[in-house]
Amino acid sequence: MRAFLLTRHGGPEAMELRDVPEPRPAERQILVRVRAAGLNPVDYKTRAGKLRVIQRYTLPIVVGNELAGIVEARGPGVSRFQPGDRVFARVPKETLGAFAELTCLDEGVAAHMPAAIDFEAAAGVPLAGLTALQALRDELRVSPGQRLFIPGGAGGVGTFALQIASVLGAEVATTASPRGDALVRRLGAKVVVDYTKARFEDLLRDYDGAMDLVGGDTLARTFSVVRRGGTVVSIAGMPEPLTARKDLGRGAGLAALFWLISLGTRRRARRRGVRYRYLFMHPSGPDLDELARLIDARKLEVVIDRVFPFAEIADAFAYLEQGHAKGKVVVRIP
Ligand SMILES: NC(=O)c1ccc[n+]([C@@H]2O[C@H](COP(=O)([O-])OP(=O)(O)OC[C@H]3O[C@@H](n4cnc5c(N)ncnc54)[C@H](OP(=O)(O)O)[C@@H]3O)[C@@H](O)[C@H]2O)c1
Repeated sequence: MRAFLLTRHGGPEAMELRDVPEPRPAERQILVRVRAAGLNPVDYKTRAGKLRVIQRYTLPIVVGNELAGIVEARGPGVSRFQPGDRVFARVPKETLGAFAELTCLDEGVAAHMPAAIDFEAAAGVPLAGLTALQALRDELRVSPGQRLFIPGGAGGVGTFALQIASVLGAEVATTASPRGDALVRRLGAKVVVDYTKARFEDLLRDYDGAMDLVGGDTLARTFSVVRRGGTVVSIAGMPEPLTARKDLGRGAGLAALFWLISLGTRRRARRRGVRYRYLFMHPSGPDLDELARLIDARKLEVVIDRVFPFAEIADAFAYLEQGHAKGKVVVRIP
């Protein structure tokens, strides 16, 4: 079968399409015929070797973090799925494997696809959708009437975060360039700051919380938008000690490293009386069920920017890496 492999760490030349043997499902695994797979910044960060401190892979490895497809076979002990079921999944971080014609994954990370959408739209949901849901519901505990700031609302995660925050009852402010303005308004943003022209901290005050999707200087300035006692959750800034223990299940060594690299960010948060949390999302079949319910109830729209044929996956990567995607970038397989 055809698959897209990471052969070494580096630039675009470090990944290539190859023929590899078909995988066989182990206990509690399903074998999925992949019909579409979503691309994410984590794919090119992994390629560059930026995440080695957290996750090491034996190379070469079939990469790809999310998919939609049809169950082809199942290993012993699988109870939730049968051959022929249409499923979608954020695959386990330890194994990857979504950029392939066939892949095996634990049944616990998969869910039945929403009936209302096709494979290409479904493939764009898992990683970004779960990230938004877990940050807003579990970390920010968004409740009706709250005012929430979500800088960077037009990208893969942002298009889900704006809508899920609205479903949870929040009133949302976001940042976007003129290219993303109409999109973020359609997805529910009540206040939109053009980040290419204005500094959002001059315009926004006393928000109950924030979900930062941009990191760097944007995260640093986000603390001054949130009221004392509020929380800023970032998915793009510096991991902090709780990230190591709670999200990654790791010990004191990694927690100490994260303590060190997040020192400046945590100081800034403390000065403002704001809590800081960095979240690594986790794969979850039950959380995907929840997203599927929202999609089927037409409360959550999947925004797909571009679909590329599998043979042109390198072009899909180049497109995503420019950093201007409006919604998700997906490859159609085969
Ligand atoms: N920790 C986790 O578990 C986790 C999970 C998912 C993603 N992430 C991280 O979260 C980040 C976002 O991911 P993504 O999939 O949403 O990326 P993406 O789809 O590539 O985001 C692109 C979007 O970001 C906008 N943008 C760029 N710079 C901006 C700025 N300074 N202010 C406001 N908007 C800006 C762009 O708008 P314009 O083109 O109009 O400028 C574009 O629409 C990445 O760093 C990713 O690695 C982390």
